[in-house]
Amino acid sequence: MTLDEALSKTVLDKDDLVFLLGLTDPRDVQRLHDAAYAAKCRHVGNVAYYRGLIEFSNICVKNCLYCGIRRGNENVRRFDTPREDILAMARWCHEQGYGSVTLQSGERTDAAFAEHVEGLVRDIKKIGGGGLGITLCAGEQSEETYRRWFAAGAHRYLLRIETSRPELYAALHPGDGMHVWKNRYNCLRVLGKIGYQVGTGVMIGLPGQTLGDLADDILFFQTIDAAMIGMGPYVVHKDTPVGQAVLASGENSDECRQKRLLLGLNMIAVTRLALKDVNIAATTALQALHPEGRELGLKAGANILMPIVTLPRFRRDYQLYEGKPCINESSEDCRNCLERRVRSAGDSVGWGRWGDSPHFARCSQ
Ligand code: 5AD
Ligand code: SF4
Repeated sequence: MTLDEALSKTVLDKDDLVFLLGLTDPRDVQRLHDAAYAAKCRHVGNVAYYRGLIEFSNICVKNCLYCGIRRGNENVRRFDTPREDILAMARWCHEQGYGSVTLQSGERTDAAFAEHVEGLVRDIKKIGGGGLGITLCAGEQSEETYRRWFAAGAHRYLLRIETSRPELYAALHPGDGMHVWKNRYNCLRVLGKIGYQVGTGVMIGLPGQTLGDLADDILFFQTIDAAMIGMGPYVVHKDTPVGQAVLASGENSDECRQKRLLLGLNMIAVTRLALKDVNIAATTALQALHPEGRELGLKAGANILMPIVTLPRFRRDYQLYEGKPCINESSEDCRNCLERRVRSAGDSVGWGRWGDSPHFARCSQ
Protein backbone atom coordinates (compact mmCIF):
# COMPACT_ATOMS: atom_id res chain seq x y z
CA MET A 1 0.00 0.00 0.00
CA THR A 2 1.26 3.50 -0.74
CA LEU A 3 0.57 6.62 1.28
CA ASP A 4 -1.31 8.11 -1.68
CA GLU A 5 -3.59 5.09 -1.83
CA ALA A 6 -4.31 5.14 1.89
CA LEU A 7 -4.96 8.90 1.96
CA SER A 8 -7.31 8.74 -1.03
CA LYS A 9 -9.71 6.30 0.66
CA THR A 10 -12.91 7.55 2.28
CA VAL A 11 -13.39 4.43 4.40
CA LEU A 12 -10.31 3.10 6.19
CA ASP A 13 -10.09 -0.58 7.11
CA LYS A 14 -7.86 -2.04 9.82
CA ASP A 15 -4.89 -2.51 7.47
CA ASP A 16 -5.10 1.13 6.33
CA LEU A 17 -5.28 2.30 9.93
CA VAL A 18 -2.23 0.24 10.97
CA PHE A 19 -0.28 1.49 7.95
CA LEU A 20 -1.05 5.16 8.65
CA LEU A 21 -0.49 4.90 12.41
CA GLY A 22 2.94 3.39 11.83
CA LEU A 23 4.31 6.18 9.62
CA THR A 24 7.62 7.53 10.92
CA ASP A 25 9.38 9.13 7.94
CA PRO A 26 9.08 12.91 8.62
CA ARG A 27 7.78 13.67 5.11
CA ASP A 28 5.13 10.96 5.31
CA VAL A 29 4.14 12.07 8.79
CA GLN A 30 3.80 15.65 7.57
CA ARG A 31 1.54 14.53 4.72
CA LEU A 32 -0.62 12.50 7.11
CA HIS A 33 -0.98 15.41 9.53
CA ASP A 34 -1.71 17.86 6.68
CA ALA A 35 -4.41 15.56 5.31
CA ALA A 36 -5.96 15.30 8.78
CA TYR A 37 -5.83 19.09 9.24
CA ALA A 38 -7.60 19.50 5.88
CA ALA A 39 -10.24 16.97 6.99
CA LYS A 40 -10.71 18.92 10.22
CA CYS A 41 -11.22 22.19 8.27
CA ARG A 42 -13.74 20.46 6.04
CA HIS A 43 -15.76 18.65 8.71
CA VAL A 44 -15.55 20.76 11.88
CA GLY A 45 -13.74 23.97 10.85
CA ASN A 46 -10.40 25.31 11.99
CA VAL A 47 -11.82 26.60 15.25
CA ALA A 48 -10.57 25.42 18.64
CA TYR A 49 -13.24 25.17 21.33
CA TYR A 50 -12.31 25.50 24.97
CA ARG A 51 -13.46 23.33 27.84
CA GLY A 52 -12.18 24.96 31.04
CA LEU A 53 -10.80 22.00 33.03
CA ILE A 54 -11.64 22.08 36.74
CA GLU A 55 -9.86 19.16 38.41
CA PHE A 56 -11.85 19.49 41.60
CA SER A 57 -10.68 16.51 43.67
CA ASN A 58 -7.92 13.91 43.51
CA ILE A 59 -9.61 11.50 45.91
CA CYS A 60 -10.02 8.22 44.06
CA VAL A 61 -11.25 4.77 45.08
CA LYS A 62 -9.56 3.15 42.10
CA ASN A 63 -6.02 1.90 41.81
CA CYS A 64 -5.22 1.95 38.08
CA LEU A 65 -1.65 0.72 37.79
CA TYR A 66 -0.44 3.65 35.65
CA CYS A 67 -2.03 6.67 37.34
CA GLY A 68 -0.24 9.02 39.73
CA ILE A 69 -3.30 9.67 41.90
CA ARG A 70 -4.22 6.01 42.32
CA ARG A 71 -5.55 5.12 45.76
CA GLY A 72 -2.36 3.27 46.65
CA ASN A 73 -0.04 6.23 46.09
CA GLU A 74 0.63 7.51 49.58
CA ASN A 75 2.86 10.33 48.39
CA VAL A 76 -0.14 12.30 47.17
CA ARG A 77 -1.74 14.97 49.33
CA ARG A 78 -5.47 14.52 48.80
CA PHE A 79 -7.70 17.54 48.21
CA ASP A 80 -11.34 18.34 47.67
CA THR A 81 -11.93 21.83 46.31
CA PRO A 82 -14.46 23.83 48.34
CA ARG A 83 -17.74 24.19 46.52
CA GLU A 84 -17.63 28.00 46.41
CA ASP A 85 -14.20 27.87 44.74
CA ILE A 86 -15.51 25.49 42.07
CA LEU A 87 -18.43 27.80 41.34
CA ALA A 88 -16.08 30.80 41.21
CA MET A 89 -13.88 28.97 38.69
CA ALA A 90 -16.93 28.18 36.55
CA ARG A 91 -18.02 31.84 36.69
CA TRP A 92 -14.52 32.85 35.67
CA CYS A 93 -14.71 30.52 32.66
CA HIS A 94 -18.01 32.06 31.64
CA GLU A 95 -16.63 35.60 31.95
CA GLN A 96 -13.65 34.64 29.82
CA GLY A 97 -15.91 33.37 27.07
CA TYR A 98 -14.98 29.71 27.51
CA GLY A 99 -17.99 27.94 26.00
CA SER A 100 -17.87 24.99 28.39
CA VAL A 101 -16.37 23.59 31.54
CA THR A 102 -15.20 20.06 32.28
CA LEU A 103 -15.52 18.90 35.86
CA GLN A 104 -12.97 16.17 36.44
CA SER A 105 -12.08 14.22 39.56
CA GLY A 106 -10.91 10.90 40.84
CA GLU A 107 -13.63 8.29 41.10
CA ARG A 108 -15.95 8.07 44.11
CA THR A 109 -19.20 6.17 44.21
CA ASP A 110 -20.59 7.17 47.62
CA ALA A 111 -23.95 8.89 47.91
CA ALA A 112 -22.45 12.14 49.21
CA PHE A 113 -20.32 12.46 46.07
CA ALA A 114 -23.27 11.86 43.73
CA GLU A 115 -25.18 14.56 45.54
CA HIS A 116 -22.23 16.95 45.60
CA VAL A 117 -21.72 16.70 41.83
CA GLU A 118 -25.46 16.99 41.18
CA GLY A 119 -25.56 20.23 43.19
CA LEU A 120 -22.49 21.59 41.42
CA VAL A 121 -23.97 20.90 38.00
CA ARG A 122 -27.24 22.54 39.01
CA ASP A 123 -25.47 25.67 40.26
CA ILE A 124 -23.09 25.90 37.29
CA LYS A 125 -26.11 25.61 35.02
CA LYS A 126 -27.48 28.82 36.56
CA ILE A 127 -24.39 30.81 35.62
CA GLY A 128 -25.07 33.20 32.74
CA GLY A 129 -28.56 31.80 32.22
CA GLY A 130 -27.37 28.31 31.27
CA GLY A 131 -24.69 29.60 28.93
CA LEU A 132 -21.94 27.19 29.96
CA GLY A 133 -21.77 23.72 28.49
CA ILE A 134 -20.99 21.12 31.18
CA THR A 135 -18.88 18.03 30.60
CA LEU A 136 -18.40 15.56 33.42
CA CYS A 137 -15.47 13.22 33.83
CA ALA A 138 -15.90 11.39 37.12
CA GLY A 139 -15.53 7.76 36.20
CA GLU A 140 -17.83 4.77 36.41
CA GLN A 141 -21.14 5.42 38.14
CA SER A 142 -24.53 3.72 38.44
CA GLU A 143 -27.16 4.44 35.81
CA GLU A 144 -29.16 6.27 38.45
CA THR A 145 -26.28 8.63 39.22
CA TYR A 146 -25.62 9.30 35.54
CA ARG A 147 -29.32 10.10 35.13
CA ARG A 148 -29.37 12.48 38.09
CA TRP A 149 -26.36 14.38 36.75
CA PHE A 150 -27.91 14.55 33.28
CA ALA A 151 -31.19 15.85 34.70
CA ALA A 152 -29.22 18.48 36.63
CA GLY A 153 -27.82 19.84 33.35
CA ALA A 154 -24.66 17.95 32.36
CA HIS A 155 -24.84 17.05 28.70
CA ARG A 156 -21.50 15.52 27.91
CA TYR A 157 -19.59 12.74 29.67
CA LEU A 158 -16.02 11.68 29.14
CA LEU A 159 -15.04 8.13 30.08
CA ARG A 160 -11.97 6.73 28.45
CA ILE A 161 -12.03 3.05 27.65
CA GLU A 162 -8.20 3.30 28.06
CA THR A 163 -7.75 0.43 25.58
CA SER A 164 -10.36 -1.43 23.59
CA ARG A 165 -8.60 -4.77 24.20
CA PRO A 166 -9.91 -6.32 27.44
CA GLU A 167 -6.71 -8.39 28.00
CA LEU A 168 -4.52 -5.29 27.87
CA TYR A 169 -6.98 -3.48 30.14
CA ALA A 170 -6.66 -6.35 32.60
CA ALA A 171 -2.85 -6.08 32.54
CA LEU A 172 -3.03 -2.37 33.42
CA HIS A 173 -5.50 -2.65 36.29
CA PRO A 174 -5.68 -4.65 39.50
CA GLY A 175 -7.70 -7.87 39.23
CA ASP A 176 -9.77 -6.99 42.28
CA GLY A 177 -13.19 -7.01 40.64
CA MET A 178 -13.33 -3.20 40.74
CA HIS A 179 -11.51 -2.60 37.46
CA VAL A 180 -13.45 -4.52 34.84
CA TRP A 181 -13.35 -3.64 31.12
CA LYS A 182 -16.89 -4.84 30.53
CA ASN A 183 -18.27 -2.58 33.27
CA ARG A 184 -16.59 0.41 31.69
CA TYR A 185 -17.97 -0.54 28.31
CA ASN A 186 -21.46 -0.85 29.80
CA CYS A 187 -21.12 2.62 31.32
CA LEU A 188 -20.43 4.03 27.84
CA ARG A 189 -23.56 2.32 26.53
CA VAL A 190 -25.69 3.64 29.41
CA LEU A 191 -24.37 7.19 28.95
CA GLY A 192 -25.34 7.13 25.28
CA LYS A 193 -28.77 5.72 26.10
CA ILE A 194 -29.43 8.52 28.61
CA GLY A 195 -28.67 11.11 25.94
CA TYR A 196 -25.22 12.35 26.89
CA GLN A 197 -22.76 13.27 24.18
CA VAL A 198 -20.33 10.49 24.91
CA GLY A 199 -16.60 11.00 24.84
CA THR A 200 -14.07 8.24 25.14
CA GLY A 201 -10.42 7.65 24.38
CA VAL A 202 -7.33 5.64 25.08
CA MET A 203 -3.75 6.00 26.23
CA ILE A 204 -1.23 5.67 23.44
CA GLY A 205 2.14 3.95 23.71
CA LEU A 206 1.23 1.72 26.64
CA PRO A 207 3.54 -1.21 27.37
CA GLY A 208 2.21 -4.22 25.48
CA GLN A 209 0.10 -2.14 23.09
CA THR A 210 0.49 -2.73 19.34
CA LEU A 211 -0.42 -0.69 16.25
CA GLY A 212 -3.16 -3.27 15.69
CA ASP A 213 -4.58 -2.42 19.14
CA LEU A 214 -4.62 1.28 18.30
CA ALA A 215 -6.33 0.58 14.97
CA ASP A 216 -8.93 -1.47 16.87
CA ASP A 217 -9.34 1.45 19.28
CA ILE A 218 -10.32 3.70 16.36
CA LEU A 219 -12.76 1.07 15.10
CA PHE A 220 -14.12 0.86 18.65
CA PHE A 221 -14.76 4.64 18.69
CA GLN A 222 -16.72 4.14 15.48
CA THR A 223 -18.68 1.19 16.82
CA ILE A 224 -19.86 2.97 19.96
CA ASP A 225 -20.54 6.11 17.92
CA ALA A 226 -18.48 8.42 20.14
CA ALA A 227 -19.09 12.15 19.65
CA MET A 228 -15.84 13.21 21.33
CA ILE A 229 -12.41 11.66 21.60
CA GLY A 230 -9.94 12.53 24.35
CA MET A 231 -6.73 10.59 24.14
CA GLY A 232 -3.08 11.17 24.76
CA PRO A 233 0.27 9.45 25.04
CA TYR A 234 0.99 7.36 28.09
CA VAL A 235 3.44 9.25 30.32
CA VAL A 236 5.37 7.59 33.13
CA HIS A 237 4.65 8.35 36.78
CA LYS A 238 7.36 6.93 39.00
CA ASP A 239 5.06 6.14 41.94
CA THR A 240 3.05 3.61 39.93
CA PRO A 241 3.63 -0.06 39.12
CA VAL A 242 3.44 0.49 35.34
CA GLY A 243 5.72 3.54 35.55
CA GLN A 244 8.28 1.59 37.57
CA ALA A 245 8.23 -1.33 35.13
CA VAL A 246 8.71 1.00 32.17
CA LEU A 247 11.59 2.78 33.91
CA ALA A 248 13.24 -0.55 34.82
CA SER A 249 13.04 -1.80 31.24
CA GLY A 250 14.75 1.34 29.91
CA GLU A 251 11.67 2.23 27.86
CA ASN A 252 11.55 5.83 29.02
CA SER A 253 14.53 7.28 27.17
CA ASP A 254 14.06 10.53 25.25
CA GLU A 255 13.81 8.45 22.12
CA CYS A 256 11.01 6.30 23.57
CA ARG A 257 9.13 9.37 24.78
CA GLN A 258 9.39 11.00 21.36
CA LYS A 259 8.08 7.79 19.80
CA ARG A 260 5.05 7.94 22.08
CA LEU A 261 4.52 11.58 21.15
CA LEU A 262 4.64 10.79 17.44
CA LEU A 263 2.26 7.88 17.92
CA GLY A 264 -0.08 10.16 19.90
CA LEU A 265 -0.10 12.69 17.05
CA ASN A 266 -0.58 10.01 14.39
CA MET A 267 -3.46 8.62 16.42
CA ILE A 268 -5.17 12.05 16.39
CA ALA A 269 -4.59 12.38 12.65
CA VAL A 270 -5.84 8.90 11.76
CA THR A 271 -8.85 9.24 14.07
CA ARG A 272 -9.74 12.50 12.31
CA LEU A 273 -9.47 10.84 8.90
CA ALA A 274 -11.56 7.87 10.02
CA LEU A 275 -14.24 9.56 12.16
CA LYS A 276 -14.34 12.93 10.35
CA ASP A 277 -16.89 15.10 12.19
CA VAL A 278 -16.23 14.27 15.86
CA ASN A 279 -14.58 16.50 18.45
CA ILE A 280 -10.99 15.49 19.22
CA ALA A 281 -9.01 17.01 22.09
CA ALA A 282 -5.36 18.01 22.00
CA THR A 283 -4.63 16.87 25.56
CA THR A 284 -2.06 18.18 28.03
CA ALA A 285 -0.25 14.82 28.00
CA LEU A 286 1.05 15.78 24.53
CA GLN A 287 2.63 18.82 26.08
CA ALA A 288 4.25 16.75 28.81
CA LEU A 289 6.33 15.20 26.03
CA HIS A 290 6.94 18.29 23.88
CA PRO A 291 6.72 22.03 24.63
CA GLU A 292 4.52 22.52 21.57
CA GLY A 293 2.62 19.27 22.00
CA ARG A 294 -0.83 20.80 21.96
CA GLU A 295 -0.21 22.97 18.86
CA LEU A 296 1.06 19.86 17.13
CA GLY A 297 -2.18 18.16 18.17
CA LEU A 298 -4.25 20.95 16.59
CA LYS A 299 -2.16 20.71 13.44
CA ALA A 300 -2.73 16.96 13.33
CA GLY A 301 -6.51 17.36 13.40
CA ALA A 302 -7.61 18.04 17.00
CA ASN A 303 -10.16 20.83 17.58
CA ILE A 304 -10.71 20.91 21.35
CA LEU A 305 -8.47 22.33 24.08
CA MET A 306 -8.93 21.95 27.80
CA PRO A 307 -7.24 24.93 29.47
CA ILE A 308 -6.51 24.09 33.10
CA VAL A 309 -8.60 26.17 35.49
CA THR A 310 -7.84 24.14 38.63
CA LEU A 311 -6.84 26.31 41.60
CA PRO A 312 -3.07 26.85 41.45
CA ARG A 313 -2.67 25.55 45.01
CA PHE A 314 -4.03 22.15 43.99
CA ARG A 315 -2.38 21.74 40.57
CA ARG A 316 0.69 19.99 41.92
CA ASP A 317 -1.52 17.39 43.60
CA TYR A 318 -3.36 16.46 40.42
CA GLN A 319 -0.57 14.80 38.52
CA LEU A 320 -1.71 11.64 36.78
CA TYR A 321 1.70 11.57 35.12
CA GLU A 322 5.01 13.36 35.50
CA GLY A 323 5.97 16.52 33.66
CA LYS A 324 2.38 17.74 33.51
CA PRO A 325 2.55 21.30 32.17
CA CYS A 326 0.93 24.39 33.70
CA ILE A 327 1.31 23.41 37.35
CA ASN A 328 3.04 26.69 38.19
CA GLU A 329 0.69 28.80 36.08
CA SER A 330 -2.51 30.62 36.91
CA SER A 331 -5.74 30.33 34.92
CA GLU A 332 -4.99 33.74 33.34
CA ASP A 333 -1.55 32.53 32.24
CA CYS A 334 -3.16 29.45 30.67
CA ARG A 335 -5.75 31.49 28.84
CA ASN A 336 -3.19 33.80 27.24
CA CYS A 337 -0.70 31.09 26.48
CA LEU A 338 -3.29 28.86 24.84
CA GLU A 339 -4.68 31.55 22.59
CA ARG A 340 -1.14 32.10 21.28
CA ARG A 341 -0.82 28.38 20.66
CA VAL A 342 -4.12 28.22 18.79
CA ARG A 343 -3.16 31.13 16.53
CA SER A 344 0.24 29.65 15.82
CA ALA A 345 -1.48 26.47 14.60
CA GLY A 346 -3.53 28.57 12.13
CA ASP A 347 -6.82 28.21 14.05
CA SER A 348 -9.08 30.66 15.87
CA VAL A 349 -10.79 30.24 19.25
CA GLY A 350 -14.53 29.53 19.33
CA TRP A 351 -15.15 32.05 22.13
CA GLY A 352 -18.49 31.75 23.89
CA ARG A 353 -19.69 28.76 21.89
CA TRP A 354 -20.39 25.25 23.13
CA GLY A 355 -18.78 23.69 20.13
CA ASP A 356 -20.80 20.46 20.05
CA SER A 357 -19.55 18.10 17.41
CA PRO A 358 -21.45 18.11 14.10
CA HIS A 359 -21.40 14.34 14.55
CA PHE A 360 -23.60 14.53 17.64
CA ALA A 361 -25.97 17.02 15.99
CA ARG A 362 -26.24 14.78 12.93
CA CYS A 363 -26.87 11.57 14.87
CA SER A 364 -29.29 12.91 17.46
CA GLN A 365 -31.75 14.40 14.97
N1 5AD B 1 -0.24 8.85 31.36
C1 5AD B 1 -1.17 9.35 30.52
N2 5AD B 1 -2.48 9.41 30.80
C2 5AD B 1 -2.88 8.96 32.01
N3 5AD B 1 -4.10 8.89 32.57
C3 5AD B 1 -3.97 8.37 33.80
N4 5AD B 1 -2.68 8.09 34.05
C4 5AD B 1 -1.97 8.45 32.95
C5 5AD B 1 -0.60 8.39 32.58
N5 5AD B 1 0.32 7.90 33.41
C6 5AD B 1 -5.32 9.25 31.86
C7 5AD B 1 -6.29 8.07 31.77
C8 5AD B 1 -7.54 8.60 32.46
C9 5AD B 1 -7.39 10.07 32.32
C10 5AD B 1 -8.19 10.88 33.28
O1 5AD B 1 -6.01 10.28 32.50
O2 5AD B 1 -6.56 7.80 30.40
O3 5AD B 1 -8.73 8.13 31.87
FE1 SF4 C 1 -8.51 7.10 39.65
FE2 SF4 C 1 -8.86 7.80 37.06
FE3 SF4 C 1 -6.40 7.65 38.11
FE4 SF4 C 1 -7.79 5.40 37.66
S1 SF4 C 1 -7.07 6.87 36.09
S2 SF4 C 1 -6.62 5.88 39.54
S3 SF4 C 1 -9.87 6.08 38.15
S4 SF4 C 1 -8.01 9.08 38.72
